[in-house]
Amino acid sequence: MNNLDCPFDTSQLPEPPWFTQRLCLRPFKETDLAIAHQVLDKDAEVWQFDPGYVPSLSERLDNIRQYNFLRHQFGFGPSAAYLKGESETLIGQGGLNPYVYDHRDGSRTVEFEVMYKLGRAYWGHGYATELAAFWLDFAFKEVRLPQVIVCPERANRSSVRVLERLGAEFENDWLDETTVIGQLTRADWLARSDA
Ligand SMILES: CC(C)(COP(=O)(O)OP(=O)(O)OC[C@H]1O[C@@H](n2cnc3c(N)ncnc32)[C@H](O)[C@@H]1OP(=O)(O)O)[C@@H](O)C(=O)NCCC(=O)NCCS
Repeated sequence: MNNLDCPFDTSQLPEPPWFTQRLCLRPFKETDLAIAHQVLDKDAEVWQFDPGYVPSLSERLDNIRQYNFLRHQFGFGPSAAYLKGESETLIGQGGLNPYVYDHRDGSRTVEFEVMYKLGRAYWGHGYATELAAFWLDFAFKEVRLPQVIVCPERANRSSVRVLERLGAEFENDWLDETTVIGQLTRADWLARSDA
């Protein structure tokens, strides 16, 4: 996806680094390549559903370049996630990824999907939920998107659980037999934030 028009004003968006309670988020640098490849591409459990094969070092570099291209285009892009601390440790990545989306009625829009991926050693601590919550907050409160889409594979239970915890609503049998599609809306997110 190379030439999407940016549909919103990016001039007021907060600049990185961004922070959550336990994480520091910032755009990848090409010098992160080796550690990003080690943490995100080597473990079968981590690539099983996305992308479904062992990514090469050059594919990781392509990803980093694509994420930074999106950052320049939209003011944000999928970014690195570090544990806060003296020696910041790369644990994963997350962000908002744009898609050209074909609707059932034949119309076509640019939508954003929230994505997240953690190195296997960092599962089971709530970091992915914290990371996804940051990006949803960013989407709804800073960018002011009306909705964010989610489309985990049905069998990717830990990813589905992250999204359910955050309030995603899923439609049945939308995309294909393996992938569920769902969304979070700005209205629901703000109502949950205020509750
Ligand atoms: C999807 C993925 C990020 C989920 O990781 P995860 O560790 O299960 O999710 P979280 O980091 O939010 O951790 C939640 C778990 O930690 C537990 N937990 C432990 N301490 C916690 C804390 N302090 N706060 C919150 N939860 C905590 C929760 O109970 C929960 O366990 P459960 O799912 O068994 O109920 C991970 O499986 C992954 O990277 N997969 C590969 C990439 C992928 O498929 N990405 C999704 C497609 S974009």
